[in-house]
Amino acid sequence: MVGGGGREHALAWACARSPQVAQVYCAPGNPGTAELGENIPLTAIDAEGIAAEAERLGVGLAILGPDAAVAAGVADALAGRGVACFGPTAAAGRLESSKAFAKEVLSRLGIPTAPYRLCASWEEARAELEARSGPVVVKADGPALGKGAFVCGGPEEALEVAHRLLVAGELGEAGRLLVVEDRLEGEELSFFALCDGRRALMLPPARDFKSALDGDRGGNTGGMGAYSPPRTSDWERLNQTVLADVVQPVLAEMARLGSPFTGCLYVGAMMVAGTIHVLEFNARFGDPEAEVLLPLLPDLVPHLRAAAAGRLEGGQLSAVQGASVGVVAVRAPYPAPVTPGGALEGLERLPEGCTAFQMGTRRAPGGGLEGAGGRVLICVGTAPDLHGARALAYQGLERISFPGMRYRSDIAA
Ligand code: AMP
Ligand code: GLY
Repeated sequence: MVGGGGREHALAWACARSPQVAQVYCAPGNPGTAELGENIPLTAIDAEGIAAEAERLGVGLAILGPDAAVAAGVADALAGRGVACFGPTAAAGRLESSKAFAKEVLSRLGIPTAPYRLCASWEEARAELEARSGPVVVKADGPALGKGAFVCGGPEEALEVAHRLLVAGELGEAGRLLVVEDRLEGEELSFFALCDGRRALMLPPARDFKSALDGDRGGNTGGMGAYSPPRTSDWERLNQTVLADVVQPVLAEMARLGSPFTGCLYVGAMMVAGTIHVLEFNARFGDPEAEVLLPLLPDLVPHLRAAAAGRLEGGQLSAVQGASVGVVAVRAPYPAPVTPGGALEGLERLPEGCTAFQMGTRRAPGGGLEGAGGRVLICVGTAPDLHGARALAYQGLERISFPGMRYRSDIAA
């Protein structure tokens, strides 16, 4: 398992429960994964180090968590040493690491997405924005840790953003090329396809909550909660549509370009008047969506292995029963920077059906747990229905404490 956040804790947890898995290693992992297997002190972007260690340990399957590991070419390095890997090469990962590349693939394939223009200079961006009137979204082409998309009211606000990126260089290289696109209105939904380079297996979709405060107010965050499956009763039909109209054509196109995509293709979509529009791709599991999905699903390890080996049975994961709700506990004043430290307590008191995955924790010198990041953990409830799952997640949070603890009260409300 490559990575060390809540998503990787959930993946390691799922692997540790699988009858097909004898031992889990995490690089670098976190205090949560240390209880499920062995942490290896290598960063997630140390491609050569991870590949060498995986070969030495005789690892049967590597799983890439964060986009930084994908972009750093960990899959490429693992392939060079003959280690099976669930996660795309850096070239296939361009679907996430370059928004311009993703938009070009989408428009070549005629997949609905917001109409856009690429702007490589301030002059181009100004001309484009001055010719516009409605709401607009400005996106940095390159990776920006989730801070590269600016949803703007009108062209004035967008001009200011474009100036900050292209002239002041606020996001460095990542912001030297901009995607300027129409702002779409609708309901957002995230879709997940396990891919083997040619075929795909759809997991249930999920909803995530990005704003820091209740009522979708406050700044954008790495994610404050999620739930699955979505409330809409026709999600299985939507999944079929995304598989046939988005995932299959994108996989064929990536193969044609010589960069077949193996791993989790995350399709961020907006439902606009009943039609699915693609907002973005990620080349990995969502975080916190993975934490919500994994406790809900049957053993994924056989599918991840089949995907890595190029022999996945495509379609849609059947036999999904129940619902799952995850609520992230952060330390105030997140999303502003926080000071680490202070005892984290109560993880052993969670009710049945409730699991906590650690996102930003560390071991204190005395051996206890402490909060170490802005997002400290996610508490996930799984139950026969959404209502029950939600109640469990919040019951679990009431038993947990750390200094400055705060969470949204309206996840899946
Ligand atoms: P991205 O980095 O592309 O995932 O964008 C981050 C968030 O910005 C998305 O999850 C949406 O909430 C929002 N967003 C991105 N593109 C658009 C768009 N064209 N219209 C409306 N909202 C958007
Ligand atoms: N939850 C959104 C993401 O993983 O990018």
